[in-house]
Order: sequence, then structure tokens, then C-alpha cells
Amino acid sequence: MLWIHPLLQLAATALALYVLHLGWPRFQANHLGRKGKFMWAEHVRLGKYVHILWMAGLVLGLYAVGQAWGQNTITGGHYWIGQSMMPCIAGGYVTGVIMDRNRAKRRYLPLAHAVFNIVALILALAQVVTGIAVIRDFMLA
Ligand code: HEM
Ligand code: HEM
Repeated sequence: MLWIHPLLQLAATALALYVLHLGWPRFQANHLGRKGKFMWAEHVRLGKYVHILWMAGLVLGLYAVGQAWGQNTITGGHYWIGQSMMPCIAGGYVTGVIMDRNRAKRRYLPLAHAVFNIVALILALAQVVTGIAVIRDFMLA
């Protein structure tokens, strides 16, 4: 049970790197005046998977810690970074859905979307490091 969350979040974070790779040509086209092919539908579909997995994984992590050790926040940094990912995921999702429902040429909303998601991804990469420490200190100790 305790292994589901780390494996799920690792898969979601790897997928997020690919979704960022898909969004990059769009960033270049929107802001750097370059041409490139943006795989819109695939970016949106896989991006939604990432957000659903991250959020489901977050809830599962909280539940697992509560069940196993009877108290949340004991993982310290891992708990707090996890919580701070929530607004980034929400912001990235809402801006993504707005742009997907009403396609238009935009400059600032895609930028806000990119910032929300890239911050979420950087925090998720930090969670890999703090998460490995949780495995070492709590599960393998
Ligand atoms: C971790 C997940 C995601 C990452 C890293 C990501 C990243 C990006 C980046 C870097 C861009 C280019 C932004 C710019 O031009 O400034 C972009 C564009 C876009 N993303 Fe995402 N995204 C993610 C998830 C999503 C989701 C969940 C949706 C939809 C619900 C979505 C919908 C879009 C759309 C529609 C655009 C094109 C915006 C436009 O130029 O009009 N993305 N994304
Ligand atoms: C990607 C690598 C990650 C690893 C290796 C990892 C590892 C862990 C481990 C071992 C636990 C203890 C509970 C359990 O095993 O089910 C845990 C709890 C938790 N994780 Fe992660 N995690 C990762 C990513 C994430 C991400 C991306 C988030 C946020 C979206 C997150 C949020 C949480 C939260 C909120 C808890 C509960 C902490 C507490 O109540 O003190 N984790 N994580």
C-alpha cells in the first residue's frame, strides 16, 4: 500500500516532462516568433492525466501516512511541498481548460499556464528527492 503513492507520482512526474516537451514548441511560437508543430490534442489529453494522477496521488499519500503512522505532516518538507503543488495544479488546469475550450491567439494566459505548470513540475522533481528520504527514513528504517 505504501508503495503505490511513490510509484504513481514518479510515473506522473515523468509524464509531465513529456507534456512540457509537447508544450515547448507552442511556447516558442507564442513568445519567440518561431514556427513549430504543437500537438494540441495530445498535450491536453496527457496534461489532464498528469494533473489527475498528481492530485489522486496527493490524496493517497495523505491517506497512507495517516493510516500507517497515525499523523500527517510528519514527513515535513515532503508534506509542505506537496500541499503547495495544489494551487499550481489548479491554476495550470483552469488556464488549460479555458484555452482548450476557446481557441484563440493569446499571449499572457498561455504564459500564466506555462508558469503554473513549470512551477508544479519543479516542485514535483523536488518531491522525488524528499520522497526518497521519506522511503529511507520511514519505510526502510
Ligand atoms: C504538467 C502539465 C502541463 C504542462 C507542463 C504544460 C505546459 C504547457 C506549455 C509550456 C505551454 C506553452 C505556453 C506558452 O505558449 O506560453 C502550454 C500550452 C497549452 N496547454 Fe499546457 N501544460 C500542461 C497541462 C495542460 C492541461 C491539463 C491542459 C488542458 C486542460 C493544457 C492545455 C494547453 C493549451 C490549450 C495550450 C495552448 C495555449 C495557447 O497557446 O493558446 N495544458 N502548456
Ligand atoms: C515523485 C516521487 C515521490 C515519492 C518517491 C514520494 C514518496 C512518498 C512516500 C514514501 C510517502 C509516505 C506515504 C506512502 O508511501 O504512501 C509520501 C507521502 C506524501 N506525498 Fe509523496 N512522493 C512523491 C511525489 C509526491 C508528489 C508529486 C506529491 C504532491 C502532488 C506528493 C505528496 C505527498 C503527500 C501530501 C504525502 C503525505 C505526507 C504527510 O502526510 O506527511 N508526493 N510520499
